[in-house]
Amino acid sequence: MTIIDGRQIAADIRQELKTEVEHILKAGGRPPCLAVVIVGHNPASETYVRNKIKACQQVGFRAKKISFEADVKQEEVIKAIEQLNEDSSVDGFIVQLPLPEHLNETHIMQAINYKKDVDGLHPMNVGKTALGMPSVVSATPKGIRELLSRYNIQTEGKSVVIIGRSNIVGKPMAMLLMQKPYLSLPKMASQTLGDATVTLCHSKTRNLRQICLGADIIIVAAGQPNLLKQDMVKEGAVVIDVGINRIEDNSQEKGYRLVGDVDFENVAPKCSYITPVPGGVGPMTIASLLQNTMQVYKTNNRI
Ligand code: GUN
Repeated sequence: MTIIDGRQIAADIRQELKTEVEHILKAGGRPPCLAVVIVGHNPASETYVRNKIKACQQVGFRAKKISFEADVKQEEVIKAIEQLNEDSSVDGFIVQLPLPEHLNETHIMQAINYKKDVDGLHPMNVGKTALGMPSVVSATPKGIRELLSRYNIQTEGKSVVIIGRSNIVGKPMAMLLMQKPYLSLPKMASQTLGDATVTLCHSKTRNLRQICLGADIIIVAAGQPNLLKQDMVKEGAVVIDVGINRIEDNSQEKGYRLVGDVDFENVAPKCSYITPVPGGVGPMTIASLLQNTMQVYKTNNRI
């Protein structure tokens, strides 16, 4: 059993990007710039945003943070997005989710110019991904694809079960893994990522255990601790745990610890590969966001 080291792969990606930025600067170019819009003071969101900005600085990107109080009016957020759409010094930006209840997430996400949508959540990017066209792919599925690729885990002809149908993870993950790989990854045609037989499960799925037992690869993104148990996994399966759940733990300085959606201790011995929480998929999401920022920087500047 191999524990997939997302921290190491994310560090490798940051190093690759740092080298790329150095080459751009040497050639007289300017560094890529990512802006992050955050509304309110959700503690998890504040941590993510801090980490995203820190990661930008590590690789030599510029970073801008635009903060609003939780009671901000929708028009003000849209105005800030329109300014970012026009700002030629900003290559890409994201609006950190979740947003406070009174804001319309769909309208806000659609106000983003899709060419600057480094989250890959705009309908244009989602649609392109669905069609197998070159697109910006949302950070978590992109990071998982990268982990599978760098650990040489083939997906061609494999049975993949995804648990969770979110727009951020489950749906785009299913689209990527079912695709003909040469459409989405022209430079990596030797790696057969895609061409899988994908089953997308969710809270209403019946016989989840039976479905999972048939899977070569299980990707769990349901936000439910211990959802995937030992008796749901066949010997030699690959398990990717996307869950990040805060569990109260007074022995920890912060008063909580992070666990995934997988009963890791009991599931891991049956697996060929498994991602831990923390240190698996989590660090990859920020690395993917940086890769997306570099991608749009190059596309929009014709590099
Ligand atoms: N909140 C949790 N994950 C994400 C993400 O990938 N993008 C944004 N914008 N917000 C998030």
